[in-house]
Amino acid sequence: MADQRDVPATSRTGMEDTPLMRELARDHARRRELEGLEFGVPENTRVITIANQKGGVGKTSTTVNLAAALSMGGLNVLVVDADPQGNASTALGIDHHADVPSMYEVLVESTPMHEVIQQVPEMDRLLCAPATINLSGAEIELVSMVARENRLRGAIRDLLAHREKEGQPRLDYVLIDCPPSLGLLTVNALVAAREVLIPIQAEYYALEGLTLLLNNIELLRQHLNPDLVVSSILLTMYDARTRLAAQVAQDVREHFPDQTFTTAIPRSVRISEAPSYGQTVLTYDPASSGALAYRAAAHELTTRPAP
Ligand SMILES: Nc1ncnc2c1ncn2[C@@H]1O[C@H](COP(=O)(O)OP(=O)(O)OP(=O)(O)O)[C@@H](O)[C@H]1O
Ligand SMILES: [Mg+2]
Repeated sequence: MADQRDVPATSRTGMEDTPLMRELARDHARRRELEGLEFGVPENTRVITIANQKGGVGKTSTTVNLAAALSMGGLNVLVVDADPQGNASTALGIDHHADVPSMYEVLVESTPMHEVIQQVPEMDRLLCAPATINLSGAEIELVSMVARENRLRGAIRDLLAHREKEGQPRLDYVLIDCPPSLGLLTVNALVAAREVLIPIQAEYYALEGLTLLLNNIELLRQHLNPDLVVSSILLTMYDARTRLAAQVAQDVREHFPDQTFTTAIPRSVRISEAPSYGQTVLTYDPASSGALAYRAAAHELTTRPAP
């Protein structure tokens, strides 16, 4: 018989199978796995758009927290805020009142991106191209412009060339946060990227809008960006205590076995609190389950080959 001293106290009390204990055990295992993990540098800059026309599914949280995790893992990262709500800019503590040069000037007035990019406070390798409220006008102003779907693609290409010419460090990841719509801003983001990451909230209607999104991406592939690949699907706000969440997760994994991340992002108050302090959850509460999950997801992203 096993020596009782080696058995965790919870096993002796029969508590080991409660959801809370499972969460604690998972966080513990995750912390150990993440200790000393190196994040691989990609061969080329990976440009990834985080899209889902459904609102509030975790696009912005995923963009800023993955970006923070990647940059803390030693990679050079740029967040492009392509959403007039400017939530990604807020979460990164970036000034984005109406007079700040932003993605509006880049997309509509052809201002070079390097002129609007700001350094994220206290994050050495993290940059942000902010969005201001003006960007809401871009959706309309772009309609009459030449090559209106290619504006962001051109801006990012010019930025990468500019940085190389100036001898600045190469960007390893560019993550683009989209508004909850399939308008011209999202189209620009999907034309600019090689990869799409779709956050899916683990709830009942999760898969309903997905067909529409995937159809749109397919059309876009045929007409505007043949290289585009839906490379990643990330389950967000996952509540392990509900059977519904487990069912949705299973459905998503069955439909998209290669794309779905092993890591699911748990529902975590810390993730939702962090933006009001102008922080990502990685700096706001590095030991929280949300921070650990985003670090694990970021590591998973780096180990998946670029398409
Ligand atoms: N894992 C999580 N746990 C708890 N709350 C979360 C989690 N992820 C996101 N949230 C909260 O849910 C809300 C929506 O998240 P978020 O802003 O990231 O979604 P979004 O898809 O970018 O929304 P929008 O479509 O408006 O741009 C926010 O208040 C956010 O703080
Ligand atoms: Mg958002």
